This record gives sequence, structure tokens and C-alpha cells, in this order.
Amino acid sequence: MSAPLLQVEGLRRLYRSRGWMGRRFVTRAVDGVSFTVMPGETLGLVGESGSGKSTTGRLVLGLEAPDQGRVLFDATDLGQLSQAARKPFRKRMQVVFQDPYAALNPRMRVGEFVEEPLVVHGQGGNAGERRDRVADLFRTVGLDPAFMRRFPHEFSGGQRQRVGIARAIALNPEFLVADEPITALDVSIQAQIVNLFQDLQQQMGLALLFIAHDLSMVRYLCNRVAVMLKGRIVEAGPTGAVFDDARHPYTQALLSAVPVPDPAIERGRRRIPFDAGAFVFPPEATMHDVGGGHLVLQGEDA
Ligand SMILES: Nc1ncnc2c1ncn2[C@@H]1O[C@H](COP(=O)(O)OP(=O)(O)OP(=O)(O)O)[C@@H](O)[C@H]1O
Ligand SMILES: [Mg+2]
Repeated sequence: MSAPLLQVEGLRRLYRSRGWMGRRFVTRAVDGVSFTVMPGETLGLVGESGSGKSTTGRLVLGLEAPDQGRVLFDATDLGQLSQAARKPFRKRMQVVFQDPYAALNPRMRVGEFVEEPLVVHGQGGNAGERRDRVADLFRTVGLDPAFMRRFPHEFSGGQRQRVGIARAIALNPEFLVADEPITALDVSIQAQIVNLFQDLQQQMGLALLFIAHDLSMVRYLCNRVAVMLKGRIVEAGPTGAVFDDARHPYTQALLSAVPVPDPAIERGRRRIPFDAGAFVFPPEATMHDVGGGHLVLQGEDA
């Protein structure tokens, strides 16, 4: 067994805000989240809106500091590093966002946008060599290199996401956080982008934290999956085990909402209700291994 590429230990992030009548309240966006990602592995992070998936992604990337817990990348505690010492890690960890249009600079030719990280990190040689590298990146993500001179508005949503991915892989990262990278795309395009991620994973040995709503894509793409609810992971494990033998009532409810492509099964599909608002974690709840690394959050009496 090789060592994990990413180790997340007991991450916690609270947001203090003011609500109605100026009342202060605290959102426990991420509350004791731990997981690992092995080199070349894809971990799917799923859960309802507001469960803390994006916050987890930002903490992992160091875009925000946790209140508690730590993030180790290649056995290095990122929280202990100075800005300068972090720079090489920023090259190795990249991100793809949900909305490629918001991520792109509308006044920058997409070729320059993909080239930018090479310039910032002094990689890819002279201007001519960098151009060749950008053309290669365009081909890798399935775009015609002739598009390099175009502006973002001249692309479709799927093409823009390909540009975002080209930039993210420009520095040959080992790890990518993809935060709902297909949610904003047409259904017909989603599978193409998921296939692109799969190709990159195979060609580059890229490890991926894939944050998603669409559970069928997660099943297709991810080696392991973690299910988040109200800032905590309630179930995690190999994708097959979690999908075929879900133990936590929240996971069971999530899966029961996924349409099945077989009409005979689809007719008999029953949605399992789950009231997330009313759900309270059992006191002293911890992750229990129900076999083969399939972990379920359970109270002591379960
Ligand atoms: N900067 C912030 N200030 C205050 N509250 C925040 C902030 N960012 C996130 N939150 C809150 O933290 C919780 C988790 O948010 P987060 O964006 O991580 O959820 P998510 O699982 O990514 O949801 P979605 O599926 O809708 O993207 C939410 O209740 C959200 O309102
Ligand atoms: Mg989010």
C-alpha cells in the first residue's frame, strides 16, 4: 500500500453571521471531517445543498483556514507552511469550478488564460515553447488549438469547462478539486466532461476530489465516495459498497432519489424520505467500519 496523497484530519470551519434582528448565529459548515485520497484515486463528495462540500474543498486547497484540524498533502501539514513554502504545493493541487464562465476572464483570450499559471510559476520555457504547451493542453482536453485566440464568450458551456480544465492541468498537478464541474452543463455534455476527467486520471495519474450532486456520475467516475450531511461525513467507502449497501438513512434516501435507467426497476423505485432539518446526530457518534473500509457514522448504542 502506498501512502495517501491527501490526508484530511478533523477539519472544522464555523461561520459567524448576523441574521434576523441582528441576532448572531453560527453555521457549523464543516464539523469534524476526515478522509484520505490516495494517489490517482477519485473520491466523490456528495450531499445536500449547504452540507459543507464546497467549504471542505476550499479548506483542502488552503483558500480558507480551518478553525480546527489539518490538511496533509504528501505528508506535509499545509497549515504549518509559510506562503513561500506553500507555493510548490499550489502547483501540485489545482481546482476546477462549477461555473466556468465566472472563472474565466472575459477580456482575456482563452489561450492566455491557460498559459497564465505557466507564466506565474515560471514553467514551460520561452514564449514559443509555452504556446506549444498550451496547444498540447487544448488537444488534451479535446479543443482545437486554433481556439486559443478566442474569447470566453465565443465558447459553449462545455467548451468553457474544457478551457478551465486545461488551465487546471497546465502545471501537471497530482491532485484536483472539482467542485460541481458538470452541474452547470447540459445533460448531454455532462458525460463528455466526466469522460475527460476519467481520461486525465488515466493519462496523468491525477487524483480527484469530485464534488457532485449527480450520483449516477459519481458512481461511474469515483473509486470511493463520502456522503456529507450538515457538515459531517455520515458514510464513506468504496463506491460499489456505498451504492449497493447504503447503511445510513441519509445515504439511503439520497440513493432512492436517483432514477434508474431500467424502466422495470424504475417503475418500482420508491423514494425513502429523510428529514435533514429534524435530524440530530447521535451523541458520541463515530465512524464504524462495517467491512472493507465501508464506514458509517453511528452512535455508541447502534
Ligand atoms: N462565507 C460564508 N459565510 C457564512 N456562511 C457560509 C459561508 N460559506 C458557506 N457558508 C455556509 O456554510 C454551509 C456550507 O456551505 P457550502 O457552500 O460548503 O455547502 P455545499 O455543500 O457546497 O452546498 P451546495 O451543494 O449548495 O454547493 C452553508 O450553510 C452555507 O450557508
Ligand atoms: Mg457547493
